[in-house]
Amino acid sequence: MYSDDMNVLILGSGGREHALAWKIKQSAFCNQLYVAPGNAGTAEIAINSSLNILDFSRVEDFIREQEINLVVVGPEAPLVNGITDYLNEHVPEAMVIGPTRRGAMLEGSKSFAKEFMNEYDIPTAAYMEVTGDNMAEAEAHLMNAQGPFVLKADGLAGGKGVVILQDAEDALNELKMMLGGKFGEASKKVVIEEFLDGIEFSVFILTDGKYYILLPEAKDYKRIGEGDSGLNTGGMGAISPVPFVDDQMLQKVKDRIILPTLSGLQDRDIDYLGFIFFGLISVQDEPFVIEYNCRLGDPETEVVLPRLKNDILELFEALFENDLYEIGLDEDERSAATVMTVSEGYPGPYKKGIPITFMDRPVSDSIIFHAGTKKEVSGIVTNGGRVLTVTSLDPDRNKAIEKSLDTIKSIDFDGKYYRRDIGFDL
Ligand code: AMP
Ligand code: GLY
Repeated sequence: MYSDDMNVLILGSGGREHALAWKIKQSAFCNQLYVAPGNAGTAEIAINSSLNILDFSRVEDFIREQEINLVVVGPEAPLVNGITDYLNEHVPEAMVIGPTRRGAMLEGSKSFAKEFMNEYDIPTAAYMEVTGDNMAEAEAHLMNAQGPFVLKADGLAGGKGVVILQDAEDALNELKMMLGGKFGEASKKVVIEEFLDGIEFSVFILTDGKYYILLPEAKDYKRIGEGDSGLNTGGMGAISPVPFVDDQMLQKVKDRIILPTLSGLQDRDIDYLGFIFFGLISVQDEPFVIEYNCRLGDPETEVVLPRLKNDILELFEALFENDLYEIGLDEDERSAATVMTVSEGYPGPYKKGIPITFMDRPVSDSIIFHAGTKKEVSGIVTNGGRVLTVTSLDPDRNKAIEKSLDTIKSIDFDGKYYRRDIGFDL
């Protein structure tokens, strides 16, 4: 055990990173805590640094200067670009939570992930891969199959790379646009998938590549409008636990998805130290993988970490000491709900720099996690589409949601929007 002198650096700036900072700050082993670049919320509990997290040599310098022992990588882009490989080579004394470039391919390339799942018999939608070279085959497939058609850009597209279309003609046009560079390099290759009709949820593990700890599951609400209508967003809210995910379902997820994924990684000699987020869909009570992510989800983290009672630095350290298997998950039995407030216009164009006021509120145990916020001399202002999210815990899921909705009333900014129906479908 490292005693109480770990200096920790979290990379990222969203609600996920604020929740990670909030959780790490509570650890008995945390000394200095830094977040780069962070937001106004992380500034209240940690030291923000305006590092460019895609400039790995700057991150390396910072690690040396501040004597960082542990780096937690929040978002996918630095992982897919190989930050872990870089830091492991240049500052091996710092422990990095997050997979190497090859492990991050599970998220960084849909075609890699599909081929991986096929090889290891992991349930997922049937698919075909399309590049400029097999357009005729792709066209024949679209014209002969039944919609809806799911088109996915192969690479990272900031959560926008999936398009679902009913009509074959529309799908063909979309496919041409994607291959033509609609999402830049990310869509020079496209995966066409069979549409799965079911209910989505997510499962997260922390793993050393062999053993894993299953974290509380969650369900997020991606659409901007109530009743799950309108455009996809980064996430408008989340709940945990998920009532339809019972022990039987979790057992299927472990046996058919988590274990084969880990043995597949080992089979390919891919070292993996960090989180895996399994985006799943239950089709008639059978789980299928919609996507892998090589990191925690946002806003799922804002309900998962508040339900985790373990000291998180103890878990991280166990990853490096290879004794994760000795540690059990200690989970808060209560339900957690988070409700995200967003800027007017989001997920389309929106303004930034709008002052946020926090009014006194009745005593409540809600937690406010900042996402797109920034501290100015004048006060805290908006700095993104997703602005802040309010998490509450209660034995009764509906009460947790109500508490969050109540607390949201005490936070104001021009154009504030949020969904009042998180959890409506459960
Ligand atoms: P992804 O970025 O892969 O998570 O996809 C974004 C969203 O598209 C998912 O959350 C699902 O709602 C939907 N989606 C993706 N793949 C499928 C599929 N094969 N069948 C049905 N819906 C899907
Ligand atoms: N909430 C979905 C994600 O983080 O990708």
